[in-house]
Amino acid sequence: AAAEKGGYDYFMLKEIAEQPKAVADTLLGRIDAAGSLTLDEVRIDAAELRETDKVVIVACGTAFHAGLIAKYAIEHWTRIPCEVELASEFRYRDPILDARTLVVAISQSGETMDTLMALRHAREQGARVLAICNTNGSTIPRESDAVLYTHAGPEVAVASTKAFLTQLVACYLVALYLGQVRGTQWGDEIRAVIRDLSRIGGAVERVLETMEPVRELARSLAEKNTVLFLGRHVGYPVALEGALKLKELAYMHAEGFAAGELKHGPIALIDEDLPVVVVVPSPRGRSLLHGKIVSNIQEIRARGARTIVIAEEGDEAVVPYADHLIRIPATPTLLQPLVATVPLQVFACELATARGNEVDQPRNLAKSVTVE
Ligand code: G6P
Repeated sequence: AAAEKGGYDYFMLKEIAEQPKAVADTLLGRIDAAGSLTLDEVRIDAAELRETDKVVIVACGTAFHAGLIAKYAIEHWTRIPCEVELASEFRYRDPILDARTLVVAISQSGETMDTLMALRHAREQGARVLAICNTNGSTIPRESDAVLYTHAGPEVAVASTKAFLTQLVACYLVALYLGQVRGTQWGDEIRAVIRDLSRIGGAVERVLETMEPVRELARSLAEKNTVLFLGRHVGYPVALEGALKLKELAYMHAEGFAAGELKHGPIALIDEDLPVVVVVPSPRGRSLLHGKIVSNIQEIRARGARTIVIAEEGDEAVVPYADHLIRIPATPTLLQPLVATVPLQVFACELATARGNEVDQPRNLAKSVTVE
């Protein structure tokens, strides 16, 4: 078994380390020499994709968080309205679907019953279904109109890591492809993003090389009961994912909030020495949001919280308010989740270890849930 784990103590650690390759493999063969996308495997007719007037993403757990992030990219690059819904809720509310709806079902295993039932419902209503899946020939891609496989390789640890990063890449490819097919005004930006995406594996690698202080921090928090996570824009689903990882692995009470919502309730939770992780958007581009989140960090720190700040290299504005500062490489706004999630995975894994929990097989959880 030690050999299977490639020298790591846990599959999860091995899978976290494999992320740069997983990301690169998922891009491989999908971008041509001219920097355009070649997604022939998406067998949905280009004419049909041009007529698409709504995208609906269905997924569960970590895959749902990938979907929440994808919405920002899809709406920005395609101007097609996009909804994201928990697969388990979807068919019970009589969703509005027709032949012009593109349903994207995201699933690592391809066997999650909630997601399968959602896609069956979508197809019954005449919608086209595109699966984003990591498991060749599994049920969800077999029952979909088209599939874009993520090439993360087998993921063994119950808590999803490399599959999540590749789901994000696949979602971006779908968004960019839709943009390309529909010839949006973002042509130049799309080419630039494709170029940035093809370099993102290197940025993930750099994050992985600087994780020792994050592990140390995690060990120092092993006795805590609660950790909060805040983010905005694409950093909000990253906060949700950080909280989910901590629940799954450390069995701690963890919640993710949109930082702008803090003042509408969650700030009442801030207490002396409460650890609060804040995912900070880039000060470039989204400078308005950046300023607002910096004031959030000030507010929670003024109330005694212990601030753990994830911010891009060169962001000096956060320094005075960060009890712990975790640096990530600068990326375009929409790509930040690919680097910002990694320290949160390491954080949860190390906390689980420090608390004596089973990292690869957390209690009560299954890798793939084949019941509704
Ligand atoms: C289970 C796993 C989660 C996973 C979810 C969706 O609950 O424990 O880690 O995110 O299923 O799995 P899928 O295979 O559909 O991505």
